[in-house]
Amino acid sequence: RRATRVHHLAQMKAEGEKWSMLTAYDYSSARIFDAAQIPVLLVGDSAANVVYGYDTTIPVSIDELLPLVRGVVRGAPHALVVADLPFGSYEGGSAQALTSAIRFFKEGGAHAVKLEGGERVADQIATLSAAGIPVMAHIGFTPQSVNGLGGFRVQGRGDAGDQLIADAIAVAEAGAFAVVMEMVPADLAGQITRKLTIPTVGIGAGNETDAQVLVWQDMAGFTHGKTAKFVKRYADIGTDLRVAAEQYADEVRRGQFPGPEHSY
Ligand code: KIV
Ligand code: NA
Repeated sequence: RRATRVHHLAQMKAEGEKWSMLTAYDYSSARIFDAAQIPVLLVGDSAANVVYGYDTTIPVSIDELLPLVRGVVRGAPHALVVADLPFGSYEGGSAQALTSAIRFFKEGGAHAVKLEGGERVADQIATLSAAGIPVMAHIGFTPQSVNGLGGFRVQGRGDAGDQLIADAIAVAEAGAFAVVMEMVPADLAGQITRKLTIPTVGIGAGNETDAQVLVWQDMAGFTHGKTAKFVKRYADIGTDLRVAAEQYADEVRRGQFPGPEHSY
């Protein structure tokens, strides 16, 4: 089996082949997703929420994300591993973005980085791309800007559609190899997908993007609390894990575990 690299994603778009992406934050889950032949794994700054328990993605640091990237890279020999640049690590300009991205490359072993924003981060995207660091852009609802955007809301409705199109074109022209579109109307996402030659990756962006991405805990039923409308649950491992933990505790309490077959 070949390892997925950025040029394969361009090929898949040219051939009309849709692909999937999942988040991953550790070695064990990365191994499973690599075995499932998920071509792209994202060490998202959503680790802020699902790994570290913060309310937003704003507080998470490079130092908190780097060890997760290392685990995912070790667990997924075939997947393209994309590392999110966290809030505060690239907004200062191209030099800051380069310093941050280099850490994910040299210390983390990531194959690409992702950052949030359209036109406003075009310089950063151009600088990283020129340095040989493939960049995935992320437009539409960008969680690091949740305070500026006034909450979790669909982006690009009505007149704001023109800005979303401008952002998509700006990141593609700056050299991004793909662009995530989060919480945007399906028709607009389809229109942008047909306009761009780079692959689009949707999350809450309908069925006409080139690829899809979900947070793995959301799609596997491992998320605490309610999930967004765009999430489909493919498993209920949260319940399975709770039941397993309860059974284990119960068997220990009753002296049933360990049995002779688990003893030396
Ligand atoms: O951090 C993340 O998980 C993401 C994806 C949902 C696109 O950015
Ligand atoms: Na993210």
